[in-house]
Amino acid sequence: MMINKLRLQNFRNYQDQIVQFMPGTNILVGDNGQGKTNLIEGIYYLLTGKSYRVQREQELLRWEKSEFHLYGDFLLAHHKIFLESHYRDKKKMVKINQIPCQRLSDFVGTINVIFFSPDDLVMIKGGPSERRRFLDLHIAQMRPGHVSILNAYNKVLQQKSALLKTYVEKSLKYSQLQLWNQQIIELGEKIIRNRTDLTLRIQDVADQIYANLSSQKEKMEVIYIALGKKNIDEAISEFPQLLNDKLEQEIERQMVLVGPHRDDVQILLNDKPARLFASQGQQRSLVLSLKLAELEIIHQEKREYPLLLLDDVLSELDSFRRDYLIKFIESSSIQTLLTMTSAEPNLESGAIYHVEQGHIRRKP
Ligand SMILES: Nc1ncnc2c1ncn2[C@@H]1O[C@H](COP(=O)(O)OP(=O)(O)OP(=O)(O)O)[C@@H](O)[C@H]1O
Ligand SMILES: [Mg+2]
Repeated sequence: MMINKLRLQNFRNYQDQIVQFMPGTNILVGDNGQGKTNLIEGIYYLLTGKSYRVQREQELLRWEKSEFHLYGDFLLAHHKIFLESHYRDKKKMVKINQIPCQRLSDFVGTINVIFFSPDDLVMIKGGPSERRRFLDLHIAQMRPGHVSILNAYNKVLQQKSALLKTYVEKSLKYSQLQLWNQQIIELGEKIIRNRTDLTLRIQDVADQIYANLSSQKEKMEVIYIALGKKNIDEAISEFPQLLNDKLEQEIERQMVLVGPHRDDVQILLNDKPARLFASQGQQRSLVLSLKLAELEIIHQEKREYPLLLLDDVLSELDSFRRDYLIKFIESSSIQTLLTMTSAEPNLESGAIYHVEQGHIRRKP
């Protein structure tokens, strides 16, 4: 998969910019605050319908402007694909090959993307929601139906929570809550199975990459923990009972306490929780292994590598890990866009672009 051309109009600090990208490595060089991350964010938004930085489109609008437009020419299995994303009158609209898409899930996953920035270290040290998000974003790219399941599940959660909040005063029947529980179980099981499948595949690949990164001295493990259990079948068969057991507590606390919205992914380093014990360098290796595993899994599934967007990553890695990553990129057919504040001497090939105050020009 490849991006040939990108046009950003009134997106962040870009007024109207066209960039032509090359196969292989594309290096975006510029001082702080010039628009490197904004460009990466634009591509990510065009491909996923979401920004990883902000929730609201309003913040992506160039200041004082009321609409933004993104256009991209991509290559997938030697076919050209033209994607557009428009935000106008507070509404967003996406098109594939000029045909509007009804739902975002028709659009996401057309061209796959792996994004990696220093903020991704929260996957190790942050709370469970960061790790669930990592899995869900990845699954959504391979199985767009996952987004609909998640949305439906979240809606049921909201409805059940609303009912829990009024439970006492309205003296509603137990059976009404049971009805929502039934849906929580049905949708929840699908979410748990999708996440478990992906975690197992990640484990297979990441384990090997981590071993190489640590010169075979350390091992990592990723395990999906569903409803507090490692054994997924057991968790799913006990799901109804768990919901029943917690009902009193749910009414008391007015929130849904059982379900995959509270699951976690355990990341172990030499059999111990990485969240508690991994050093800075080990955390970086873990995240790098997880990201490269994602890349390989998409390649296995789609027979093509996704785009790889690396924002500010090289400066965060020590020379061993940096060389590993650069070799990985250069030895594969992955198109990579990476940002940095000064040119990286170890990169042997690649097109270089200068980014300055929302203007990009390719260095001859
Ligand atoms: N909605 C917006 N409209 C106009 N300009 C914006 C908007 N949002 C951010 N900016 C400007 O964009 C610039 C930041 O761009 P960006 O985050 O891409 O920088 P960068 O080149 O990645 O810098 P660094 O090397 O520090 O990461 C800032 O100058 C900021 O003021
Ligand atoms: Mg930046």
